[in-house]
Amino acid sequence: MTYCRFSRLMHWAMAFLVFSAIMLVELKSMLPRGELKRDFMIWHIEAGMLVFILVWPRLFWRIGNPSPPILPPLKPFQRFSATLAHQAFYLMMMALPVFGFLAIQSKGRVGHFFGLQLPQLIGKNGHAHALKHDHELLGNIMIGMIALHLLAVFHHHVFRRDNTLKRMSL
Ligand code: HEM
Ligand code: HEM
Repeated sequence: MTYCRFSRLMHWAMAFLVFSAIMLVELKSMLPRGELKRDFMIWHIEAGMLVFILVWPRLFWRIGNPSPPILPPLKPFQRFSATLAHQAFYLMMMALPVFGFLAIQSKGRVGHFFGLQLPQLIGKNGHAHALKHDHELLGNIMIGMIALHLLAVFHHHVFRRDNTLKRMSL
């Protein structure tokens, strides 16, 4: 038994978007000032905003569609920690774009999404630095969570030899 097609497509599309957002902003920091550096930032914002748009239908779908069982079954504390980790991922996919959005708007910039101007919800204010710091902190926690997620998948697939990864395969 696998996750339904919608959940599997969403998982891989959003994993790609989150990974791209992180790579783009990390590569941006290595680029010299110029148009390409600005483009990388724009693409970071676009990937992040797409995550924010897609996470809602994914979450509502997930609430109505329980995940298929892992076989052989996990111990209760393993099930509990996996659930907690996945809930933290959903929370991060909502919080990261919000903090990023608030950070750029507090700096007096509006931000763009595929050529469209994002709505201005707040004006320039004194919190830009703190909000950017919070967003970067969350971004680095997210990188750690993804590393743990990959280790967990590896452990299930290679050592425990259960169906965890097969349930999510496209
Ligand atoms: C899933 C969504 C997102 C992820 C995973 C993410 C992750 C990150 C990471 C890892 C960093 C760099 C942290 C560091 O250098 O220590 C960063 C920086 C930043 N992000 Fe995001 N972000 C996301 C969405 C957004 C969105 C939607 C916006 C704006 C609307 C945004 C605006 C920014 C800004 C302004 C910076 C600082 C860049 C700089 O000045 O070097 N991010 N983000
Ligand atoms: C940026 C990266 C990623 C994010 C944000 C992410 C996020 C998530 C989330 C939120 C779930 C829970 C799904 C649910 O039950 O609603 C999940 C499950 C899963 N992910 Fe990822 N994922 C990422 C990358 C990956 C990668 C690269 C792999 C494989 C190598 C992977 C394999 C899996 C598997 C096998 C599950 C099912 C786990 C289970 O049901 O216990 N993920 N992921």
